[in-house]
Amino acid sequence: MSSLITIKDLSFKYPDSDLVLEGINLDIKKGDSVGIIGPNGAGKSTLLLHLNATLIGKTGEITIDGISINRHNLKTIRQKVGMVFQNPDDQLFMATVFDDIAFGLLNVGIEELQIKERITSILAHFGLSGFEGKSPHHLSLGEKKKIALAGILVMNPEILVLDEPTISLDPRARREFIELIHNIPGTKIIAGHDLDMIQKLTQRTVIMNKGKIIAHGPTQEIIQNQQLLFANRLI
Ligand SMILES: Nc1ncnc2c1ncn2[C@@H]1O[C@H](COP(=O)(O)OP(=O)(O)O)[C@@H](O)[C@H]1O
Ligand SMILES: [Mg+2]
Repeated sequence: MSSLITIKDLSFKYPDSDLVLEGINLDIKKGDSVGIIGPNGAGKSTLLLHLNATLIGKTGEITIDGISINRHNLKTIRQKVGMVFQNPDDQLFMATVFDDIAFGLLNVGIEELQIKERITSILAHFGLSGFEGKSPHHLSLGEKKKIALAGILVMNPEILVLDEPTISLDPRARREFIELIHNIPGTKIIAGHDLDMIQKLTQRTVIMNKGKIIAHGPTQEIIQNQQLLFANRLI
């Protein structure tokens, strides 16, 4: 089967940083769920930000579903790749939960009645019925994370990218969030260093360190390789 995402020789540096990604090559097939693990500063978030063209590297190429990402096709790419940021406060900015989830849908011209239906349905599915009128900023972190995910999922992206989805959540919220993500079909790319979450949610795992891919294989094999995990500050 051909790849849904192809990353070829991707390198990147921020204006005021050293090289943060260095010669990244990765193929992801439709339906894959892939974990990206590595210590703080490894370049995980930077890599994810390239997948929905929030960042565009000068070196290398990323192809999504046969389309090479460039400055002229951002809209198409962002419809295909839904990105849930690590911190929901970077994602939620409207006055109400309803407006936040509706934002993307309005942008692509979905009609009001359908927007209402989709929002009612996703909130019910996430156990947040009745949250429409609340302010996202007054919610718990677990609720905020769910709303941020809902805002992406209602857009039906082909690829879901999640950056550290379980970080800072209390045990119950963490378990619920893992369960929600688990039940989402489709291609998923999940960064983090919560190895238990990675084990529950992914089939393949990539270890990154200092901007490079150190290892790549079936999640079970990677997670059992204590030496490799230790060398990369993951245990
Ligand atoms: N906006 C930025 N400007 C400059 N350097 C950055 C920026 N964001 C991240 N970095 C640097 O890039 C490296 C990789 O960061 P990041 O991708 O956030 O790693 P990770 O998600 O694995 O913790 C780190 O050294 C970090 O300090
Ligand atoms: Mg990060």
